[in-house]
Amino acid sequence: MRPISIALTAAGLVATAVAKSSSDPFPLPLCNGIDIEDATIDELQRWMMLGDLTSKDLVKCYVARIEQTNGEVNPDALSIASALDKERAKHGIRGPMHGIPFMVKDNIYTDDKHNTSEGGLVLLGGRYSSEATVVAKIRAAGGVLLGHAALSEAADHRALSNFSDGYSTRVGQTRNPFNLTQPTSGSSGGSVVAVRSNQVAIALGSETHGSLVHPAALLGLYTLKSTPGLISRHGIVPGSFYHDTPGPVARSMKDVAILFDIMAGVDRFDNSTFDALGHYPEDGYSAEVVGKDALRGMKLGLPWNPYWSTISSINSPGQRDQYEKRVKELKAAGAEIYNITYIPGIQNVASRYGFGQPSDVAAEYGQLEAYNTLLAVGYGEWLKGWTFPRGDKRRGMSSLAQMAAWNDAHNDTTGSLGNGTWWYNTVSGQDFYDNAIATNGTMGDKFWKAFGWGRRTARQAIDGGHAVVLKNGTVIELDGLLVPNDPSGGFDNACSSIPSYAGYPIASVPIGQSGYSLPCGICIYGRQYSEPKLIRVASAMEDLFRWNAKPKFHNYKTAKGRWETLWPGYTCTEDSLDHYGCAKA
Ligand SMILES: *[C@@H]1O[C@H](CO)[C@@H](O)[C@H](O)[C@H]1NC(C)=O
Ligand SMILES: *[C@@H]1O[C@H](CO)[C@@H](O)[C@H](O)[C@H]1NC(C)=O
Ligand SMILES: *[C@@H]1O[C@H](CO)[C@@H](O)[C@H](O)[C@H]1NC(C)=O
Ligand SMILES: *[C@@H]1O[C@H](CO)[C@@H](O)[C@H](O)[C@H]1NC(C)=O
Ligand SMILES: *[C@@H]1O[C@H](CO)[C@@H](O)[C@H](O)[C@H]1NC(C)=O
Ligand SMILES: *[C@@H]1O[C@H](CO)[C@@H](O)[C@H](O)[C@H]1NC(C)=O
Ligand SMILES: *[C@@H]1O[C@H](CO)[C@@H](O)[C@H](O)[C@H]1NC(C)=O
Ligand SMILES: *[C@@H]1O[C@H](CO)[C@@H](O)[C@H](O)[C@H]1NC(C)=O
Ligand SMILES: *[C@@H]1O[C@H](CO)[C@@H](O)[C@H](O)[C@H]1NC(C)=O
Repeated sequence: MRPISIALTAAGLVATAVAKSSSDPFPLPLCNGIDIEDATIDELQRWMMLGDLTSKDLVKCYVARIEQTNGEVNPDALSIASALDKERAKHGIRGPMHGIPFMVKDNIYTDDKHNTSEGGLVLLGGRYSSEATVVAKIRAAGGVLLGHAALSEAADHRALSNFSDGYSTRVGQTRNPFNLTQPTSGSSGGSVVAVRSNQVAIALGSETHGSLVHPAALLGLYTLKSTPGLISRHGIVPGSFYHDTPGPVARSMKDVAILFDIMAGVDRFDNSTFDALGHYPEDGYSAEVVGKDALRGMKLGLPWNPYWSTISSINSPGQRDQYEKRVKELKAAGAEIYNITYIPGIQNVASRYGFGQPSDVAAEYGQLEAYNTLLAVGYGEWLKGWTFPRGDKRRGMSSLAQMAAWNDAHNDTTGSLGNGTWWYNTVSGQDFYDNAIATNGTMGDKFWKAFGWGRRTARQAIDGGHAVVLKNGTVIELDGLLVPNDPSGGFDNACSSIPSYAGYPIASVPIGQSGYSLPCGICIYGRQYSEPKLIRVASAMEDLFRWNAKPKFHNYKTAKGRWETLWPGYTCTEDSLDHYGCAKA
């Protein structure tokens, strides 16, 4: 089964959808008479408790919505939902996720009839030793696995140059329902689009470097990228042992917290989870969800340089006003805002904001070297647990080099229409793989020097940024650092880099809508394992801003993209699309 493409590729209106006005080309049908648009876990749970909806109804409605836009679903979803409905009637609910459909990014292995392939062809058809721990935990908590969501192929680890976020060989380009000619950003785009366009209430993504927080901003949703190791990564195709972490993308911080309560915890299959012992909040993460009153006395820092001064997005038309207005609102709500000129050492860590470093820092500290090495090591580990069916030529494949060679031999490049426009792919389509292979996965002096430097300097910057020293020597401990979450999440606009290097958490809260009708947001940096505090800060801000907007599917008739060449012989017109883009011509 293909992962859900959610490409919204000029998606056709199927029978259920009656286009009433051009401003709402894909109205969401009622579900058993109930409007489930933008419904949170709590709202869905309440309807199920009242008996107005069953889990089976919900699965049917979300499946209809997926078909209205794009996609395929877990063939077992309805039977799982029915069983959970019966259990509810007989024994009550297991918890807040009982009967709630959820989706996972296609790099998260599910041990069922789905394929998990991280969007590529090279792993397609293989199976892993056991289900991802997070999936097993959500199932045990009563969640109904609805399907796999599209992603940037290999979670953005296949290609680095001329690569289109949201593109995968298997399903093509994921589109942004706010404006279909615009990107979805970071690699969890499909999960975020699924939630935003009401194909499901909550989904899992993963982040190594920006893949949750950037698409969450661009689609106007909430997320929390945790300290790696707080939540098990077992069963998730690795990008980097030291940087990867799965996380929910959701309509509220409450929904995020509900998933943290289910997912966080020690797992014998992921040794990094042992480090998180002692860092779980006593009363759980949901207890940290607060209202705007909690902003009174909250201490928030603005790392002015470089984030609030020269970052290109904040200086784009209309954007600065929006961001500064939000800061004023926070002040008015009683928050203490600390305008920090530079967080200590930040200028040494990032090339302004991005995925690199200043030109005056020696090349041997390059963070890409660390990510490249960890990618090669990660695939080597992954392939030990991955098996192909007997007779499959890929059986026994054990290294990233062999994967890349398979891609070459199958002409499977993420090549493009090819005129350099950013949302198409050009060149080899696997330069990240090539760079990783070149390291031989050697975790020698060179690796530790680069990795260690990034980790140490980034931690100094974030920890130092949280400790504001007043003129009289008093040290104020901040509750979080606010950073604009740029709509593009591009290399020189990422809010995710420093926390990625550090292995520290980030919450992301939507704050408004800006150029090209796209949402934008704020990243909140915290110290290591400060997730409970970040949930407090982010939920208080959510309650104050209460931002939401309906995607208008701008350009759904005219957006041009990869799907035109993906399925030769198929046409893509407004009326002909159903699954995966196009109907047969
Ligand atoms: C998984 O992918 C393989 C290879 O494309 C395909 O033959 C198979 O039908 C898929 N499985 C499902 C359940 O779709
Ligand atoms: C932890 O697990 C990783 C990945 O499986 C492995 O490379 C590493 O050696 C393990 N570390 C320890 C201390 O066991
Ligand atoms: C923060 O300080 C900078 C100078 O470092 C100033 O230009 C900027 O206006 C200040 N911003 C706020 C919101 O106070
Ligand atoms: C691979 O692609 C190249 C360039 O498009 C083409 O010339 C070649 O015939 C293809 N090879 C195979 C095996 O399909
Ligand atoms: C690239 O191709 C697309 C689609 O054909 C077109 O819309 C766009 O203008 C082209 N860009 C450049 C820089 O030529
Ligand atoms: C990316 O594409 C542009 C335009 O096609 C090309 O000039 C450039 O060399 C490519 N970059 C890499 C790293 O191949
Ligand atoms: C990787 O291995 C090759 C061949 O064994 C060697 O030539 C190369 O120097 C190695 N590269 C690194 C970065 O260790
Ligand atoms: C330092 O200054 C702060 C802010 O003006 C004040 O609240 C605090 O009491 C002062 N501390 C000392 C030790 O004077
Ligand atoms: C959608 O994005 C395009 C650029 O890709 C822009 O020209 C257009 O104005 C945007 N549409 C809306 C309604 O914002």
